[in-house]
Amino acid sequence: MEVVILEDATQIGAIAADAIETLLSHKPAAVLGLATGSSPLAIYDELATRCTAGRISFRQARGFTLDEYVGLPADHPERYRHVIDTVFVSRVDFAPGAVAGPDGLAVDIPAACAAYESAIADAGGIDLQILGIGTDGHIGFNEPGSSLASRTRIKTLTRQTRIDNARFFGDDIDRVPTHCLTQGLGTIMSARHVILVALGRTKAEAVHQLVEGPVSAMWPATILQHHPHVSVLLDGGAARRLQLADYYRETYRSKPHWQGI
Ligand code: GLP
Repeated sequence: MEVVILEDATQIGAIAADAIETLLSHKPAAVLGLATGSSPLAIYDELATRCTAGRISFRQARGFTLDEYVGLPADHPERYRHVIDTVFVSRVDFAPGAVAGPDGLAVDIPAACAAYESAIADAGGIDLQILGIGTDGHIGFNEPGSSLASRTRIKTLTRQTRIDNARFFGDDIDRVPTHCLTQGLGTIMSARHVILVALGRTKAEAVHQLVEGPVSAMWPATILQHHPHVSVLLDGGAARRLQLADYYRETYRSKPHWQGI
């Protein structure tokens, strides 16, 4: 796990976009795992800028979103499928239908989850997965107690996550859905490269557990310690509880620039 402590979201966006640009230059038909939430927004902004400038293209690429609320009407602005279209997909040049998400309106939810796993596998698996992290250590919507080997399935949201996400629902927790579909921890672990972004001091404890805590279902993101290629991109606030922060800073400073993350 590589920990990179940077100035701000803009710098994080540029470094993550560099990794995606490098991937697309080797593999134009790359498969990207796309996360919603505020943490990756600077990555999407930077990718949109580079795409508009003709520096990168997603024409042959595919995308799979991480998670989706269950039961939100198709036209609800907070449906993750709608959110990812707005913040990223509509701003770049993906082919029509190249980005898929779990179907939160499916009648047969287990079948929809199995179909989603098959679609990812049929696309050749995810080359690069973008992630945020919840204050309770969730990734996707894999809440504390999730199986560390889980695949795409339905989950019940914790009260903490519904409180955290109430800001998108008029600050009314009762309007936040109670259930979601999410790629499992096993699904996320199958991605070939994971870039996790955390911003701000509200994430500091979750980041400390992710990087330096014991691997535990109580902090689901800790499973990433078993992944061979994870880049954790942090601002100073999110890094403030790291015991080895100076070491991570020194390691990154002395790394050859051409190497990337
Ligand atoms: C939601 C999403 C996660 C995301 C998390 C953090 O719960 N399901 O994928 O990582 O929020 O969001 P933010 O980046 O806005 O803090």
